[in-house]
Amino acid sequence: MFTIHTIEELRRHLGEARAAGKSVGLVPTMGALHDGHAALVRRAVERCDYVVVSIFVNPTQFGPGEDLDRYPRSLEGDCSLVDQLGADLVFAPSAAEMYPAGYRTHVEVEGLSNVLCGASRPGHFRGVCTVVAKLFNLVLPDVAFFGQKDAQQVIIIQRMVTDLNFPVELEVLPTVREPDGLAMSSRNRYLTASQRADAVCLFRALQAAFEMITGGERNAGHIRSRIEAIINDAHTAEIDYVEIVDADTLEPLADLADRQALIALAVRVGQTRLIDNFAVDLTEGHGD
Ligand code: PAJ
Repeated sequence: MFTIHTIEELRRHLGEARAAGKSVGLVPTMGALHDGHAALVRRAVERCDYVVVSIFVNPTQFGPGEDLDRYPRSLEGDCSLVDQLGADLVFAPSAAEMYPAGYRTHVEVEGLSNVLCGASRPGHFRGVCTVVAKLFNLVLPDVAFFGQKDAQQVIIIQRMVTDLNFPVELEVLPTVREPDGLAMSSRNRYLTASQRADAVCLFRALQAAFEMITGGERNAGHIRSRIEAIINDAHTAEIDYVEIVDADTLEPLADLADRQALIALAVRVGQTRLIDNFAVDLTEGHGD
């Protein structure tokens, strides 16, 4: 496995892989890798002949006052994990390599980017789409692997791929969780012991919503209220949003009957913003 930092080296390695007729998989990450990332890399290695993992804490997707400076960085440990998992290349560019002086071009997916996480993080998805578009152009992967944990990110990137005709297939993998249900996240390491205990409220609330839906509840307002009550019970947790939306358009739903819905949460636990979600398909032939 090679770790490289420049676009020139990336092109050289990829040129060799393509000349050998290999299919290329890309796993974009910001590092501080955990089992959620590992699941993506494992799947990429299973499916593609040559796997590139990018590790880049992308400054353009962090807003002013967010955690760009203290975002966990552990390149050495990350590289040995990626190596063990059987990937071929880690691409870990500097910010100047990705955004040299004079950089002015950004990609914006309209409408889908200013709701849910986009409402509280203006410009976030513009930064995500810009860096992912650049990575797609640099790596030209056959398949790119993303986690359902960031459901809105997947929906927006799929829209960008369709709209801008990127010749790449997206494969989305389920959320990997800690034993108590907390979705794995690089940001979980910010939590103190008592915040960590409270953080499980996101999963508990989604579980309660799931049970209501299995019991026949279809009213989004009732489900939201139950979710909010469970989160409000956790002392250090403060709701950013609880939304029940159409899984394609991200428009709020009043009723889940016959719909593909996404129940999405963002909760601040202390200073740390955590997200989780759960997809429900109640269209004919699915659900109950
Ligand atoms: P990052 O948060 O490092 O996540 C990289 C990938 O890992 C994303 O596709 C994310 O959905 C997935 N992932 C994170 N936690 C997961 C979990 N618990 N289970 C399954 N998958 C999980 O998402 C980003 O980085 C960035 O926005 C990026 C796409 C790299 C652009 O900068």
